[in-house]
Amino acid sequence: MEWMGTPKVSAAHEISATALPLDALRKVPRRAIALLRMTVLSRGPQLLLVSFRCMSRRGKFITFEGLDGTGKSTQMRKLAAVLREAGHKVVETREPGGTATGEKIRKVALDSGTAGLAPLAEMALMFASRAQHIAEVIEPGLAAGAIVLCDRFTDSTEAYQGSGRRLGSEAVRELHRVLCGNLQPDLTILMDSNPQASVNRARRRNQRVSKSSSRSHDENRFEQETRSFFGRVRDGYLAIAKREPGRVAIVDARGTPGQTHQKILEILSSKLALAGPKRTHHVR
Ligand code: TMP
Repeated sequence: MEWMGTPKVSAAHEISATALPLDALRKVPRRAIALLRMTVLSRGPQLLLVSFRCMSRRGKFITFEGLDGTGKSTQMRKLAAVLREAGHKVVETREPGGTATGEKIRKVALDSGTAGLAPLAEMALMFASRAQHIAEVIEPGLAAGAIVLCDRFTDSTEAYQGSGRRLGSEAVRELHRVLCGNLQPDLTILMDSNPQASVNRARRRNQRVSKSSSRSHDENRFEQETRSFFGRVRDGYLAIAKREPGRVAIVDARGTPGQTHQKILEILSSKLALAGPKRTHHVR
């Protein structure tokens, strides 16, 4: 195989070459060499068969999942604060939403005024928001080495549309492959709680927000669903956790916010090689 010039190296990209002449290596900038882990596979008279890979400076992708009202957003904020304090670059974002376009989609998808939305259209809206979110926020954040914390991702679609709306897991996973490049979180925190209690909590919160704001839209559409719908959503989540125990960690969200936060910190330190927080955090 002929070497086609100087490799372009960036911390965000993985590079591999099956064959390159020795003097091609001399063209690789010093800065880039410092980033390369080289594995010499075999030697020929003129060629070194090497493969090399950028030392990963890619960030980590952590998602929060669970039924409405399980306290995901609170826990995500608490974790973001700890990670920032430990010196990490952190991006906090959410779905549906996270971009200007995604937030418009969120209004349509969550507003109780959006009547008669077909389940497939609902799923398509979630993926439209996500594809934009990955392109605009998630991938650039990871490429810049940030820890991207995301309130909901494709597991929500699998649980709510796949299981809750009975569209099936396979459709969701196939769309994820096609539209999201099969991007997988490094870690997913699944906040598990009693469905009825969580949804009641979410309803109270959203009613408060609707009353206190002058918005013409609300975020109540899903909360009008039945108890059996939320039962199916929870079953969907538990099935994902069973299928992917390495990625998905279930957290019992019925304790105090401080206790739940502590559990999440423990999961983080056991599952991800992140530098720990500078100071000890006590259970409140
Ligand atoms: P939240 O932002 O308050 O968690 O609410 C988002 C709602 O949208 C929640 O009821 C779950 C729903 N949802 C889906 O049905 N499918 C999805 O893919 C996502 C991201 C959210």
